[in-house]
Amino acid sequence: MNTFPDGFLWGGAVAANQVEGAYLTDGKGLSTSDVQPRGILGPVVEREPGDRGIKDVAIDFYHRYPNDIALFAEMGFSCLRVSIGWTRIFPNGDEHEPNEAGLAFYDKLFDELAAHDITPLVTLSHYEMPWGLVKQYGGWGNRETIGFFERYARTVFTRYQSKVKLWLTFNEINMSLHAPMTGVGLPENSTQAQIYQAIHHQLVASALAVKACHEIIPDAKIGNMLLGGLMYPLTCKPDDVFAALQENRTWQFFGDIQSRGAYPGYMLRYFRDNGISLDITNEDRVALRSTVDFISFSYYMTGCVTTDEALNQQARGNILNMVPNPHLQSSEWGWQIDPVGLRTLLNVLWDRYQKPLFIVENGLGAKDRVEADGAINDDYRINYLNDHLVQVREAIEDGVDVLGYTSWGPIDLVSASKAELSKRYGFIYVDRHDDGSGTLARTRKKSFYWYKDVITSNGASLR
Ligand code: BG6
Repeated sequence: MNTFPDGFLWGGAVAANQVEGAYLTDGKGLSTSDVQPRGILGPVVEREPGDRGIKDVAIDFYHRYPNDIALFAEMGFSCLRVSIGWTRIFPNGDEHEPNEAGLAFYDKLFDELAAHDITPLVTLSHYEMPWGLVKQYGGWGNRETIGFFERYARTVFTRYQSKVKLWLTFNEINMSLHAPMTGVGLPENSTQAQIYQAIHHQLVASALAVKACHEIIPDAKIGNMLLGGLMYPLTCKPDDVFAALQENRTWQFFGDIQSRGAYPGYMLRYFRDNGISLDITNEDRVALRSTVDFISFSYYMTGCVTTDEALNQQARGNILNMVPNPHLQSSEWGWQIDPVGLRTLLNVLWDRYQKPLFIVENGLGAKDRVEADGAINDDYRINYLNDHLVQVREAIEDGVDVLGYTSWGPIDLVSASKAELSKRYGFIYVDRHDDGSGTLARTRKKSFYWYKDVITSNGASLR
């Protein structure tokens, strides 16, 4: 019977802005997430005192984390992926001294995890940056932001050096091309040249964080984080196959730089062909050579690429312009479910980078029904996760080095794209709804017991 390696990290992943709430508590500043109360796909709204948004309370993890971590421990988690809210530490982003109350919160959070033997995996920036840096400096479009981020990264590495040994730099760094405000603090109508320049600054900042982490915590490992958007050619027409290769490079290029330390030739050609001329200094080139220790990624779906313009037109309007795959079923949110794609992606990334891989997000967003007796029978979620984990096991048998698996949203949280609570990912149900009603009470779903079995059997219970 194939099995998972000893020491494989099992757990779940959350992001500060989707669970914590407490949005101005203890000196926290406004983040880009706070000014997008309807999610990544919604508009930027300048917050006025008294305005309310679903993320302001989220699932109140800021106050309820001890109870939630106890539930994760009950499932046997050996790892929890969390992010630090940058604006809890540097409320405007450009301060010289950090906010002690924000630092103290994460001290308590990491201590609570340690008390349950749960290893923290910490993302420095998960889909948010200080709104002050966007308004006053122009976000990542401004080179100065690199220094502000480096100060933040060095501050938290120093503070948590004995508590956190696994780090990630930027969540889904490749999403900036599709969601510039969320990714790099630029308006949605920015030009490609502006977005790529901002991305360049962020890539330099990511590399400087890697360097700082290695200096400050020599026994830590730090990875990047990609949205693993694997694309298939819709047909075997050679042009479609090449178009798919090119489309995959739009996200792989981030991994190529973060893992190999330099811009790949195909990107330099893309910039030349599109009249994009980036300001890349020699100092930047040196900085980029600090490469990550492991590659982490999220995986939800795959898509198809075609050179047929009529089909492409139909696909426009999704956050990623992908053409549907006729061989796959979709979730209620139209995300195509493809467990085998995860095995393929793991193999592709391993062949490309030869660095350990970490699946730090995967899961099914679905509407749950609470039965009269309070039960939540989420067999659809169990099936989804089971089928994906079976493919992870296959990839490990293929020889891929996989460090761990943290499913997305082990407890229901606010969705990133549209700030919905009705799109639930959790093993733990949270009584809170899109209109803000609910008691915030936590309930174990059927999948809670299923995941517990998977973890305690180290995957042997998978079907
Ligand atoms: C990833 C993000 O894109 O997908 C998460 O890193 C996000 O923050 C997750 O929540 C699922 O997307 P959504 O829109 O369903 O929350």
